[in-house]
Amino acid sequence: MTRLSVNINKIATLRNARGGNMPDVQKTAQDCERFGAQGITVHPRPDERHIRYKDVELLKPLITTELNIEGNPIPKFIELVLKYKPHQVTLVPDDPGQLTSDHGWDTIKHKDFLIDTIARFKEEGIRTSIFVDPDPKMVEHAKLTGTDRVELYTESYASGFASDKGKSVAPFVEAAKVAREVGLGLNAGHDLNLENLRFFVRSIPWIDEVSIGHALICEALYLGLDNTIKLYLRELRG
Ligand code: PXP
Repeated sequence: MTRLSVNINKIATLRNARGGNMPDVQKTAQDCERFGAQGITVHPRPDERHIRYKDVELLKPLITTELNIEGNPIPKFIELVLKYKPHQVTLVPDDPGQLTSDHGWDTIKHKDFLIDTIARFKEEGIRTSIFVDPDPKMVEHAKLTGTDRVELYTESYASGFASDKGKSVAPFVEAAKVAREVGLGLNAGHDLNLENLRFFVRSIPWIDEVSIGHALICEALYLGLDNTIKLYLRELRG
């Protein structure tokens, strides 16, 4: 079954709005696990506007499932990941002030950089994943970087879902088939939600993990965190 990693950046955003410790990011991460999440994802950005580097230090010993740290592998990020050794690192080519991730790697243009960076993480036994658009060529070349997995950037699936879900999932199925053929593990994320998740994982049942933050936290405002996570797990079971 596809595993659910909950991205808790939004919890940190809310906390940071008032400068105190409410909501408590560490407690929320532990509660997500208690409610059934199979992983916790954090995305520390250079300006630390949501998850701070310090949060990673505090979270690492608490996480009993899998910790996934995602972000742009600038030197400070690489240092952080090598220090705290999460189960997985996801490399994302986002710019410093970017609102949210909006594209995957060009695995041809950045091949040498990715090879070097991935090798450093793998030496420490950290599983690697790289964020890519649903482009078979990018997935094929991702394999040459030595990464364990790719994460498909699902925004275009989510935005096309309401008008034509079959059409919007088609490029993802093709990219996912390439990943499977070349022996890459497969993650997916961005803008997945309770409405569009089931169709996605039914179309690509070999996805290892989805990483979901924004919609899950928004839905939890109405449904409660425990209930929301259980509803996501139900969607993943199909
Ligand atoms: N994957 C990556 C690489 C991301 O940057 C994000 C957002 O931080 C997500 C997944 C989760 O996206 P969302 O918050 O829309 O669920």
